[in-house]
Amino acid sequence: MTADSMVPTAELLAQTEKEVASGLQSISSDAEAEVFRIKYLGKKGLLSSLVRGVKDLSPEEKRNLGAKVNALFQSVEGRFKAAPWTQRRASADAGSFDWTLPGFPFPRGGIHPLTQIRNRIRDIFTGMGFDIAYGPEVETDYYNFGALNFQPNHPARDMQDTFYVKADEVLLRTHTSPAQVRVMLNRKPPLRCIMPGRVYRNEEVSSRSYCLFHQVEGLYVDQRVTFADLKGTLLAFAKQFFGEQTKIKIRPSFFPFTEPSVEVDVWCFLCGGKGCSLCKQSGWLEILGAGMVHPNVLANCGIDNEKYTGFAFGMGIERIALLKYGIDDIRILFENDVRFLRQF
Ligand code: DAH
Repeated sequence: MTADSMVPTAELLAQTEKEVASGLQSISSDAEAEVFRIKYLGKKGLLSSLVRGVKDLSPEEKRNLGAKVNALFQSVEGRFKAAPWTQRRASADAGSFDWTLPGFPFPRGGIHPLTQIRNRIRDIFTGMGFDIAYGPEVETDYYNFGALNFQPNHPARDMQDTFYVKADEVLLRTHTSPAQVRVMLNRKPPLRCIMPGRVYRNEEVSSRSYCLFHQVEGLYVDQRVTFADLKGTLLAFAKQFFGEQTKIKIRPSFFPFTEPSVEVDVWCFLCGGKGCSLCKQSGWLEILGAGMVHPNVLANCGIDNEKYTGFAFGMGIERIALLKYGIDDIRILFENDVRFLRQF
């Protein structure tokens, strides 16, 4: 074998043929055409090297492969000249560019599954008259905990859950609830608002939890808002999001910023409540936390808690995405592997 020559084999030819076919299709600029030409057809190109390599084959292989190599070279040369891009260039150079030819397809981007779910949640609540607000991701201890009625030594404040930017004062918000506080401080009731956004928790990364995720917070404050309003709103949401036949189940729970506090389950949409692996045979899936805004929180936010009541809720977008699409590892939502993203 001499320099710049390559001994052809049947596999090498087959592989080259494949490469060339997809290469020719994807050319969409002069620069790409030139790269292709040099890579395959140029003096030191792959096909030219294979042609030169024929002389190093045994006489029998020469008979067999020699003609194939030459044929491939010629076919590629011909197809390169006839490739859509080359054709277009040639007619453009000749001054007869046909502007009505279809354009080259650009790979189309898609909307990330988390964004799709957030948009759907947003559309459902804006359809019910909620507006949208955002709060900062870097928060103070007061907005994230204090104003929300967390006691000074509540375990959630612990360094293990919270990323502190400045010890005990400035932190990455651990939930979207501080956005509620900001809405209540900045506006006057009646308030009907959702607050989507990113939140951070210093938890060990695993298939079930990630250091960063997304929530949508909801808040409704007005005169005579009752728990029935909360139930009705969440049921209407669940029916629109998961389907008309959906039922919800409300269980007592605890959050410092609501009283009473509840957790809400939806009927498992995979098995229709019969019990399956998604719902761990229970027939129900937990999707959010909610409750009546604690009077202390209203007071902390300058709202007269004798006159006004409210409800609030918060849901995790990743959790809903994992359930809805049957994904078993949360990390895949953050890797941006296009093979995964293309499926949505
Ligand atoms: N902030 C809670 C969490 O991150 C979720 C939540 C529960 C939000 C109850 C609320 C609520 O507004 O009322 O787990």
